[in-house]
Amino acid sequence: MHIIHTAVELRQRLKNQSNIAFVPTMGNLHAGHIHLVEIAKQHSSCVVVSIFVNPLQFAANEDLASYPRTLAADCEKLKAAGATLVFAPSVAEMYPDFDGVNLNQTMTISPPPMADILCGASRPGHFSGVATIVMKLFNMVMPQLAIFGQKDFQQLLIIRQLVQQFNMPIKVIGVATVRESNGLAMSSRNGYLSAQQRQQASLLHEVLQNTVAKIQSQPHNLPLNFQQLEQATTDSLTSHGWAVDYVAIKSALTLAPVSDTDTDLVILAAAKLGNTRLIDNIEFLLNKYTTN
Ligand code: PAJ
Repeated sequence: MHIIHTAVELRQRLKNQSNIAFVPTMGNLHAGHIHLVEIAKQHSSCVVVSIFVNPLQFAANEDLASYPRTLAADCEKLKAAGATLVFAPSVAEMYPDFDGVNLNQTMTISPPPMADILCGASRPGHFSGVATIVMKLFNMVMPQLAIFGQKDFQQLLIIRQLVQQFNMPIKVIGVATVRESNGLAMSSRNGYLSAQQRQQASLLHEVLQNTVAKIQSQPHNLPLNFQQLEQATTDSLTSHGWAVDYVAIKSALTLAPVSDTDTDLVILAAAKLGNTRLIDNIEFLLNKYTTN
């Protein structure tokens, strides 16, 4: 497995490859990331993984400085998983305009309005930062296939839009969320939780599951009050000490409000347990034609 830090060397190494599967990450890898590598391997014998903590997707008040950087351990895991190449560039390599202090002058992608709601509302500029870095990485790696987790559901939809709207010949594959045995979605930020909080954190998935079960058990002829369901889900979390950022039920294809014809839905939530902001979601089908 090669570990590479510059775009020039990356191009050199990949110049004869015609089927590259790419897994972008910010490192501090867990079983969820490794699962993406395993999926990538099913599609290609050349699996490239990037590790780059992207300053452009962190707001000034967020955890850029403290975000865990564990390159050596990450590379061990990727070698064991059978990755072909790790691309771990510096900030200056990814942002040639970087003056060592700020990125104000950098050229960025302006994502569609879908990026302004949910996580985009509480993290202004976040998805512009994500779209910009993913575009840069795609330009450098030039993959045929790119693998992303459904754990970051809104991110996945924005990347699909990026690829489609900029006519990039890349197939985007979304992979189901890998969870701890108690249901907690694996995340690099789980490392910020105490042992006790890690147990409590399983509630986030549990309340989403309960709401989905409630929706799916409704008789098909009764209208669903999504606002009420979102509020009840929020209340369950709040009563257990969570600070809820949002709970939302949306069309899974567009993140638009649920319309009468939508059957592919997603419930998404972001909430803080102590100082740690966690996100989760469940995609589900609304079977309008069952009678019960
Ligand atoms: P990061 O948070 O490191 O996640 C890298 C990839 O792993 C993303 O596609 C994410 O959805 C996926 N992932 C994280 N936890 C997962 C889990 N429990 N199960 C399945 N997949 C999981 O997302 C980013 O980095 C960045 O925004 C990035 C796309 C790399 C751009 O900087």
